[in-house]
Amino acid sequence: MKKAVFLTIAFILFGYMGLQAQSQGERVLIVYFSRSGNTRAVAQFIHQAVGGDLFELRTAHAYPAEHRAATQLARQERDTNARPELASNVQNIEQYDIIFLGFPNWWGTMPMVFFTFLESHNLTGKTIIPFSTYGTSSGLVRGVPDIQRVSPGVTILEGLSIRGGNARNSRNEVNAWLRRIGMLR
Ligand SMILES: Cc1cc2nc3c(=O)[nH]c(=O)nc-3n(C[C@H](O)[C@H](O)[C@H](O)COP(=O)(O)O)c2cc1C
Repeated sequence: MKKAVFLTIAFILFGYMGLQAQSQGERVLIVYFSRSGNTRAVAQFIHQAVGGDLFELRTAHAYPAEHRAATQLARQERDTNARPELASNVQNIEQYDIIFLGFPNWWGTMPMVFFTFLESHNLTGKTIIPFSTYGTSSGLVRGVPDIQRVSPGVTILEGLSIRGGNARNSRNEVNAWLRRIGMLR
């Protein structure tokens, strides 16, 4: 019995130690936008595993809570290639080396506010790690080429795409991906 308890404690301890962020020495920023909470859940799992700073992109205008009205506004922004104003922006972005970029798939790419964000910072030389949630079709789709086009000087690592309905239960999937890309031991 004692041996079993000891082994269980040892297992938990070593498991915890194994889950250590790999990014020592490199400053990490996790930037995300989330209208209905799915992408936020994934961002929080990343933050809990890797640490760094967490920043939620918010537009100066709120999107309506009602899905159809929100979709209408978002479609109008997409069709007019709008740059929605940010409620606040990341300060001193030059201090970060690695930037996780998390967005819901909106018609195959990022919500337009990401174009506002990317265009308002010089990210040359930084490592970008995209992640996305989606409703029916894979989330990253044109997001990655769009990041590359708007911020040509960045290195983009393998991203993660999670079905929105699974986002709140995705901790294991998130940690497995973080290990795969070398962000967790
Ligand atoms: C304006 C809008 C456009 C969307 N377009 C797509 C799409 O093209 N493909 C898809 O699979 N899901 C689409 N979705 C669903 C979202 O990507 C999905 O619900 C996501 O998990 C929401 O993330 P959030 O809770 O962080 O806002 C769309 C949702 C909205 C509101």
